[in-house]
Amino acid sequence: MGFWKSLFSTTDAAAPKSAETDRQTVPTVTVGNSRILFSTDRDIDLYELEELCDAVGWSRRPLRKVKKAIQHSFLVVSMWEQRGTQRRLIGFSRATSDHAFNATIWDVVVHPDFQGKGLGKALMRQMIKRLRSEDISNITLFADPHVIDFYRGLGFMPDPEGIKGMFWYPD
Ligand SMILES: CC(C)(COP(=O)(O)OP(=O)(O)OC[C@H]1O[C@@H](n2cnc3c(N)ncnc32)[C@H](O)[C@@H]1OP(=O)(O)O)[C@@H](O)C(=O)NCCC(=O)NCCS
Repeated sequence: MGFWKSLFSTTDAAAPKSAETDRQTVPTVTVGNSRILFSTDRDIDLYELEELCDAVGWSRRPLRKVKKAIQHSFLVVSMWEQRGTQRRLIGFSRATSDHAFNATIWDVVVHPDFQGKGLGKALMRQMIKRLRSEDISNITLFADPHVIDFYRGLGFMPDPEGIKGMFWYPD
């Protein structure tokens, strides 16, 4: 874990400051024969993404809606394992935004084979860094009960000043 932490903090420190340059630069780390890299490219194979979501037991969603959601997201960060010429999608997250004040992070996922190695944290840090570089100051998300402490470790607070998320669902 410490190994991953130090790798990622080195990578982060070397990363450029501007969001535009950030988009063109892909931070990478090397682990054994694998390179783990991040991308903001939203041209993602939807079947590969579905496989990743299946691996953590999420309910399937219509791919045409997933495609639309990705296209209309403000930011998409995906995480890939590269072995030789093969690339495998191992993590994903996206954010919607008003482009000025607020962004909400959705669909944070790390493949079970890669969980517990600091990669979820690294993925979230990439998200936060890029949103902050766009001067977004209010970053929110909806945490499943079992991952509240994961987000708390990244500085997210449940119910700040008693504010509650409220939901409306069709009958
Ligand atoms: C939640 C998830 C993204 C975490 O990814 P990960 O790569 O395993 O997390 P990391 O290894 O980066 O863990 C970072 C820290 O959070 C902690 N953590 C990880 N998962 C946790 C959990 N479920 N509950 C509490 N803490 C957790 C780790 O112990 C670690 O703590 P440390 O920094 O003190 O060592 C991953 O487990 C996942 O994809 N789960 C299934 C999908 C899901 O539930 N997504 C969230 C929807 S709201």
